[in-house]
Amino acid sequence: MFTRWAYDEIDVMGHRFQRGDQVGLLLGAANRDPGVWDRPAKFLPTRPVKPHASFGAGLHFCVGAPLARLELQIALPILFHHRPGLQIAEPPTYADVYHFHGLSRLRLKT
Ligand code: HEM
Repeated sequence: MFTRWAYDEIDVMGHRFQRGDQVGLLLGAANRDPGVWDRPAKFLPTRPVKPHASFGAGLHFCVGAPLARLELQIALPILFHHRPGLQIAEPPTYADVYHFHGLSRLRLKT
């Protein structure tokens, strides 16, 4: 969920917002939208590349996206080179936060 503020009176999708209104925006399915993704709950790193919601969109698109992509391209091959048998040891635990729903625990084994 992200929040936005209306800077002016505006109509969006049939709703009238007043200047100063705070709006909660819920990304219902995002990258797990079954209408977009085949087997959306499965981690398939070799999927065909398609536009996704990981870095947001529009005016607030993540300014760190190029750095984050570089970090993954550089760091993951090094990690997999040093730990070739790396596996998930137990189901990951997700953090109980409404914003940036990341992992709180990810146990691995080699
Ligand atoms: C995998 C890593 C990352 C993910 C998944 C991610 C995701 C996102 C998302 C979804 C947004 C949009 C938030 C919104 O719409 O309100 C965002 C915004 C932003 N991100 Fe990232 N991010 C990542 C890494 C980074 C890094 C490495 C930096 C800085 C070095 C960064 C800096 C920012 C900033 C400053 C914004 C706010 C942009 C704005 O509001 O105009 N992010 N990020």
